[in-house]
Amino acid sequence: MRAVQAHAFGDPTVLSVVDLPDPSPGAGQVAIDVTHAAVGLIDLFFRQGVYRDQPGMPQPPYVPGLEVVGTIREIGEGVTGFRVGEQVVAMSQTGTGGYASAYVASAWRIVSIEGSGIAPELAVSMIPNAAMAYVALTEVAHLRQGESVLVHGALGGLASAFPGVAKQLGASRVVGTVRPDKLAAAKSTALPYDRIVDSTRLSEELGDEKFDVVIDPVGGEVRMQSLALTGPGGRLIAAGNASGDWEHTIPDNQLWLGSVTIAGFNAGAYLPTHPEVVRPALEAARTAIAAGLGQTVVDVLSFDEAARAHERMESRALAGRLVLAAQ
Ligand SMILES: NC(=O)c1ccc[n+]([C@@H]2O[C@H](COP(=O)([O-])OP(=O)(O)OC[C@H]3O[C@@H](n4cnc5c(N)ncnc54)[C@H](OP(=O)(O)O)[C@@H]3O)[C@@H](O)[C@H]2O)c1
Repeated sequence: MRAVQAHAFGDPTVLSVVDLPDPSPGAGQVAIDVTHAAVGLIDLFFRQGVYRDQPGMPQPPYVPGLEVVGTIREIGEGVTGFRVGEQVVAMSQTGTGGYASAYVASAWRIVSIEGSGIAPELAVSMIPNAAMAYVALTEVAHLRQGESVLVHGALGGLASAFPGVAKQLGASRVVGTVRPDKLAAAKSTALPYDRIVDSTRLSEELGDEKFDVVIDPVGGEVRMQSLALTGPGGRLIAAGNASGDWEHTIPDNQLWLGSVTIAGFNAGAYLPTHPEVVRPALEAARTAIAAGLGQTVVDVLSFDEAARAHERMESRALAGRLVLAAQ
């Protein structure tokens, strides 16, 4: 197979296209002929070596990539409900392996998109993140009908899946925040936000408005601001740390004073221990995206342009998703 490999930790130039043996599916797995792989910020963190000392994290040489779309080429022992040639989206278990023309996935982490009408590049960009958004909103935030939701870094990969799923679950109002340089892109987005505001002017833009659920994949200063924007009985979900600020701390007295809950959600930790939530989440995600609730901008690059894709993500100028096409 053709694959993009990171031969060391470092800048995007450590990525190059190589030929590797085709993988075979084991019991409970399928092998997929990949058409597109999504690029996420976590791929950059792995490549930079941010998690190099944590057990189980990828060590060079490895193939980056968490999420793929393609057609099933081979079915492993014990897998039922799928057929060879079926178009599927897969969420990775290990955080690696996606930037390759062939990929092996556990069957419980794939969903068919046959007949859904969803373009493959949009499917791989949105379905895995929408499945994570579904789990975060139902299992962790316990979103109820009619509640309001605030999403930081609103056009980011993970964040952009939240408005559609929140609306699908009955949220009454979904507001996003973006940096000023993304306000123009925010104006033209088809994502179902009721409003997108300047993240550098939150108090001017939002006044006294508080939210039942706040989704924060950004962290740092934004995590602190989020606390003040979460209403009594509200739930602030720490869902990432795009800011790269690992030093901030939450003053716990503000939790009881504000009557606020903070919960963490990390798919890498939660899904393997709660596998039963994955299939309903993937199916709900497919329904939401097929209904047009995840219309984000997707740019397609080739495997040869993987380093360029990482540079573009690093620039923080992206207002949508990047995917790599295997062909
Ligand atoms: N909880 C989970 O299971 C899960 C799943 C996927 C990803 N994640 C995590 O969620 C975070 C976002 O991942 P993603 O793939 O969605 O990234 P992304 O597409 O780059 O989006 C991140 C957003 O965060 C904002 N941001 C603020 N400071 C930033 C900085 N220093 N660098 C880059 N972006 C910054 C940006 O919005 P503005 O410029 O508008 O502020 C950007 O749109 C990461 O920490 C990732 O590890 C968690």
